[in-house]
Amino acid sequence: MANLHIINHPLVQHKISLLRDKNTGTKEFRELVSEIAMFICYEATRDLPLKEIEIETPVAVAKTKVISGRKLAFVPILRAGLGMVDGVTALVPAAKIGHMGIFRQPDTKEAVKYYSKMPDDIAERDVIIIDPMLATGHSAIAAIDEVKKLGVSHIKFMCIICSPEGVDKVREAHPDVDIYTGVMDQGLNEDKYIVPGVGDAGDRIFGTR
Ligand code: URA
Repeated sequence: MANLHIINHPLVQHKISLLRDKNTGTKEFRELVSEIAMFICYEATRDLPLKEIEIETPVAVAKTKVISGRKLAFVPILRAGLGMVDGVTALVPAAKIGHMGIFRQPDTKEAVKYYSKMPDDIAERDVIIIDPMLATGHSAIAAIDEVKKLGVSHIKFMCIICSPEGVDKVREAHPDVDIYTGVMDQGLNEDKYIVPGVGDAGDRIFGTR
């Protein structure tokens, strides 16, 4: 069964509290999403393989380590996932970015894919799917399904806030996909929003309603 990694770092917890505040405006919300994404990405990349190389310093030859192995791609789920791209690419600037457009049917809350544009070599890359909110799990599952269809075999899912229901659904559908989150909230309300959550993350990132 896939692991659930909750990033309990004090800076992450503090920033999530600021994110929750309904009085936090668009600019600050956007900055916080980006910063929290960077911290969670730091943990989600902890197991990247290293190889030893030699580098000449001004003093001597150093046996030192660099990241080796498969390259990374991040796949934000539109729209809200876009808010995390700056943060994760600050840590992994060479990563490619795929885009996955998924919206929730307002009545059924089912995930409907309307757009997908992936790097040509996606099948040779490890993929981290990013979306600030893991609520019902429908979008996450649809995004993972799509990326698997393209031949990707190493997938992680990164969010900022998850619900217990969403985590259960994703783990049931994709037991091989580890989930990285800042916090797990109480659950979902009747509109399938995370409680207490942050409200609509996309609206708060982009200043829409
Ligand atoms: N998407 C959001 O933006 N917020 C939620 O609470 C659930 C899904």
